[in-house]
Amino acid sequence: MDIINLLPENIANQIAAGEVIQRPSSVVKELIENSIDSGALNIDVNIKDAGKTLIQVVDDGKGMSSNDAEKCFKRHATSKIKTPNDLYRITTKGFRGEALASISAISHVEMKTRTENQETGTLIFIKGSNIEKKEDVVCPIGTSFEIKNLFFNVPARRNFLKKESTEFKHIQDEFIRIALSHPEINLTLTHNGAEIFNLHSSILRKRIINLYTESWNDRLVPIEESTEIATIKGFVVKPEHTRRTRGDQFFFINNRFFKSSYFNHAITKAFEGLIKKENFPGYFIYMEINTKKIDINVHPTKTEIKFEEEKYIYSILLSTIKRSLGKYNITPTIDFDKESSFDIPNSILSQAASEPIIKVNSKFNPFKTKDNSKGLTNKGFGSAKSSSVDWDNFYSIDEEKENNTENYPPIDIVNSLESFSKFLIKDSYIITPSKSGLMIIHARRAIEQMTYSETLKSLENKCLSSQKLLFPLEKEVSINEINIWEQNYDLLKKFGYRGIIKNNLLTIKSVPSILQEESISECIDDILDTLEYKEIDESHITNKIILSIAKSTAMKKLNLNTNKSIQALVDKLFQCENHTYSPRGKKIIETISLKEIEDKLK
Ligand SMILES: Nc1ncnc2c1ncn2[C@@H]1O[C@H](COP(=O)(O)OP(=O)(O)OP(=O)(O)O)[C@@H](O)[C@H]1O
Ligand SMILES: [Mg+2]
Repeated sequence: MDIINLLPENIANQIAAGEVIQRPSSVVKELIENSIDSGALNIDVNIKDAGKTLIQVVDDGKGMSSNDAEKCFKRHATSKIKTPNDLYRITTKGFRGEALASISAISHVEMKTRTENQETGTLIFIKGSNIEKKEDVVCPIGTSFEIKNLFFNVPARRNFLKKESTEFKHIQDEFIRIALSHPEINLTLTHNGAEIFNLHSSILRKRIINLYTESWNDRLVPIEESTEIATIKGFVVKPEHTRRTRGDQFFFINNRFFKSSYFNHAITKAFEGLIKKENFPGYFIYMEINTKKIDINVHPTKTEIKFEEEKYIYSILLSTIKRSLGKYNITPTIDFDKESSFDIPNSILSQAASEPIIKVNSKFNPFKTKDNSKGLTNKGFGSAKSSSVDWDNFYSIDEEKENNTENYPPIDIVNSLESFSKFLIKDSYIITPSKSGLMIIHARRAIEQMTYSETLKSLENKCLSSQKLLFPLEKEVSINEINIWEQNYDLLKKFGYRGIIKNNLLTIKSVPSILQEESISECIDDILDTLEYKEIDESHITNKIILSIAKSTAMKKLNLNTNKSIQALVDKLFQCENHTYSPRGKKIIETISLKEIEDKLK
C-alpha cells in the first residue's frame, strides 16, 4: 500500500526549511530517524572514512511500496503528516518530507526496500535527484540505504568538511543521542570495519552504561516527577563525577533530543555549590509533554523546541533535581515545603512562574551526636546514627525562641522526654514536638523505608531468611505473569520465595520471613505487576522486588497503639541511613518551625 503524500503548498510553507544536510552526521541522523519512524527494532549503521566514502543504514522496519520508494525522494513527500493541524501532534521524528530529497540532491543513493506484503523489493539508484535505476530486487523486509560521494556536486561543502576524526565524532554524537532516546532498539555502529557500538535493547540505565562504561552505574542519580504539565524522568550525574566538558548533557522531549540553554540553566542552578565552578553538570533528562504544548517546527534540524509552559518546566526541573540530589544524600536536607506536589490548578497556569523557594532549616538537626559533631558526615547527611540520649536534646523546647515570642512567663514543664507524647493521627501521621517546632512523620513511608533498608542489608549480607507457609498460597496467573515468574525465579529464590506453576496456577510455598502474613498475597501481586518481561538488568529487578516487599509491609494494618510502639518506630527510622525520603522518593518527615506556628497564630 502506498502511504506517502506530497504536502500541499500551504503546509509545506509552514515548515521550517533550510540546510538539512550540513555534514555526514546529518545524513546519519536523518536516516536513523527514518528507520525509527518505520518501526524498526534493529538498525545497523556502517560508516567508511567518516561518511565521505560510505554511509550505510539498514533497518528491519516496515519498508516502502514500489511507488513510495520512488516518491520518498521528492520534496515535501511524507507519510507522517497530512493536515496543518498535524504539525501540532507530531509523534514521529520526521514530518517535513525534506530529508531524503536533500540527501539525494547532493549524493549517490542506493536504496533497497520491501514491505511484508511484497515478494520482491524495490531498488532505486538516485544521483543528484535523478533516478538512474529502478528495479525489483530480492531483499529482506525493511529498508537499506547506501550513501556515497556525499557533496559530489557541492565541492565547497565537501572541502569544508573537517578532518576524519572530527567528522566521525559528529556522527558518533548523533548516534549516541538516538541510542539514548530509544534504548528499546538494537543498534550497531561500525567505522572502517571496526565495531564502535553494539547496543542491545535494554532499560535506560543499562543503555547509558553500554554507551559509557560500567563505572557509570554508580554515577547516576535517578530523577522523576510527574505533573499535569510534564513528566520528567532520567538521571543526573553525581556532583563528584561531573566533568569539565559539556559532553554529558542530554535533554529529550517525547523521545527527541533537543538543546536548551534555558533548561540547562535550571540544572546548573540545582547543582550550584555542589560542583567546582569549571565543571558542568551531567544529565540525561527525558520529558513527556502533550504535543500540543510544544512546537518542534522551529528549526530545520528540529533540535530547538518551543515550550508553551517553559517557566513552569524550569521550576519543576530545578526542584526535582534538587530533591533527587538531596534524597541521595548529596545535598544537605532540604525542606521542600509545598513544592513536592505539582498538581497545578488551572487558575495559575496562566500566571508567570517564579523560582521555587527552598528553605533550609539550619537549626533542625536531630542527628547531633554527643560529641557535637554534625550529622553531615563524609558519607552524606543523615548517616550518623542517633542514640536515645540525643533525643532529650532534640525534644526539648527551644527556650530562647519560646521566650522571644511574647512576654508570657515560661510554662513549667517537667524536663523529661516522657512528658511529650507522640500522637498518631488518621492512622498515618506521627506528630511529635521537636526542638525547632513540630515534627510530622509519615508512618507508612517510615515503615516502607525501614523495611527497604533492612531487606537490602540482609540481601547484601546474604542472610535473608525464608518462611515456609503452613497453607500454601494459590494464585491464578496470566501467561505474562508466568513468564515474569519463571524469568526471575532464581532471583526470587534469593529472597526466600519458592513456588510452582501448574495450569495457570501459581502455588507459593515459601516467602521472605520479613513479610507478615497479610502482606504476602499483595506483595506477589505487586512483584508480578511491576516487573516487566523484557527486563534484563539484575540490580534493577532486585530493587523492584525489594520495593514491592517494602510497600506491601507498609500497607498492612499499623500496630501503633501505644506511645512506646510509636517511639520504637521513630527510633528505628532514625537508625536508617536515609530517613528523610521513602525508597519511592516521597517525603517521610516534615517539620513545622516555631516561626511558622507563630505566623499561623498571629
Ligand atoms: N527507512 C524507512 N523505512 C520506511 N519508510 C521510509 C524510510 N525512510 C523514509 N521513508 C518514507 O519516506 C518518507 C520521506 O522521508 P523523509 O525523511 O524525506 O521525510 P520525513 O521523514 O517524512 O520528514 P523529515 O524531512 O522531517 O525527515 C517518509 O515520510 C517515509 O514514509
Ligand atoms: Mg525523515
